Amino acid sequence: MAGPLRIGVVGMARILPSHLRGWKALLDAGLCDFRVTALVGRSPEGALSFRRRGEGPPPRPPVMPGGDPLAAPHMYVSDLHGDTLPECYADVPAMLAAGAVDAAVLLTPVGLHHGQALACLSAGVHVLCEKPLAVSVRAGAAMVAEAERRGLVLGLAEGVRYDASVRLQRWAVESGPVGPVEMMALGGLASYWAPDRIVAETPWRHRKVEAGGGPAIDIGVHQFAHVRAVAGEVREVSAVTARVAAERFTRDAAGAVVAAVACDVEDVYHAAFRLEGGGTGQLSFSWCGRGPASFWPGGSVVYGARGMCRGGRLALPDGEVLLEERARAELGADVWERWFPRGVRDTKGLQFLDFVRTVERRRGGDRGAQMEASGREGLHELAAAFAILESAAAGRAVTLQEVLHGRARTYQREIDEHWGLTAPGA
Ligand SMILES: NC(=O)c1ccc[n+]([C@@H]2O[C@H](COP(=O)([O-])OP(=O)(O)OC[C@H]3O[C@@H](n4cnc5c(N)ncnc54)[C@H](O)[C@@H]3O)[C@@H](O)[C@H]2O)c1
Repeated sequence: MAGPLRIGVVGMARILPSHLRGWKALLDAGLCDFRVTALVGRSPEGALSFRRRGEGPPPRPPVMPGGDPLAAPHMYVSDLHGDTLPECYADVPAMLAAGAVDAAVLLTPVGLHHGQALACLSAGVHVLCEKPLAVSVRAGAAMVAEAERRGLVLGLAEGVRYDASVRLQRWAVESGPVGPVEMMALGGLASYWAPDRIVAETPWRHRKVEAGGGPAIDIGVHQFAHVRAVAGEVREVSAVTARVAAERFTRDAAGAVVAAVACDVEDVYHAAFRLEGGGTGQLSFSWCGRGPASFWPGGSVVYGARGMCRGGRLALPDGEVLLEERARAELGADVWERWFPRGVRDTKGLQFLDFVRTVERRRGGDRGAQMEASGREGLHELAAAFAILESAAAGRAVTLQEVLHGRARTYQREIDEHWGLTAPGA
């Protein structure tokens, strides 16, 4: 490759600091070489807020406490590398016209993903797109088709596949103590955003044509990425959804309403699914609920033909042990190094490393190189998540294949019409 990969970041998003933190972990560990050469905000001045400390508008306070990626401390590109300062642009066409990047990372509201991805791919620029891949299956399929037609990498920024507990659960299912999945459950009810807060202070998350759906899409794609990574392909989904809070709010410290948004998406779903392998499972999540959050222990439970695990813990007759302890005793150091190179565990870092290495392999002539979280995997996760909404709209179980191929599209029709997606994409 001629010089380090040149990266353009599109969308000065709340999620950007967590990406920068992961990318810094890669540079610190000497795992790959790249430079952020472009930042695209809604204005060049806005993009300055991530370029160099003290230059642009001050960082926004975090929208939530704790370990969520949206709570990552603010960072600047200059914290990653001191030898290159990115140019700032007001839109994707300006960045592409400048010829400043080899690859773009899209961190914009979901409804913009397909238009921006198609513009980048048409200009020969590889794309890493935040989850969910797109605002509809048709939009996502168009992205996948364009990347495949042009021989470019389309990857999904979906950390679940790179997460230690998911990797360990997969090992426990495939060749470890749990065995083939018979039953699985993920999720819970209520959340940090219950009962009526504007999620992440992003009104677009509550509007169908901008977000695709509510938590069924925003969280559903994470859950189905987990299910598919551990247990294989989803065959069919049967679900109910509801919109409990028709309007949502941000409030000041005294509780007075600062902003409100009318919602036209669901804020709770309950879904049952069947796997191609025959196992069954259930998912739920809500942004509503008056009272504390309730989740499955460990966030996920997996019952297999030989045993059971929850989160990162394996159930044994005389108690629970960490899956990691058991796996480390049985797996070679080479597997561990492949999963967590030089000890890096940051999922945003690991997915970006996969992206950079996949682009390098393509440039080296490997035309079939794909990220583990490829655009096509992301399309299947998106279709599974839309199956929740299509099933609820149709009042019946729908198959993944029906949703993937547009035979179950009642819910999405309005979205496709809004964005002018008149033809099936892939
Ligand atoms: N993987 C995760 O854990 C995770 C967590 C949160 C969000 N996300 C995803 O990240 C993406 C962004 O979510 P967020 O919560 O950070 O939202 P956000 O609203 O904070 O970020 C979107 C950004 O895009 C900018 N933007 C809007 N229109 C634009 C345009 N035309 N050109 C350039 N920039 C534009 C907005 O100003 C905003 O800064 C979504 O796809 C979301 O699903 C992923």
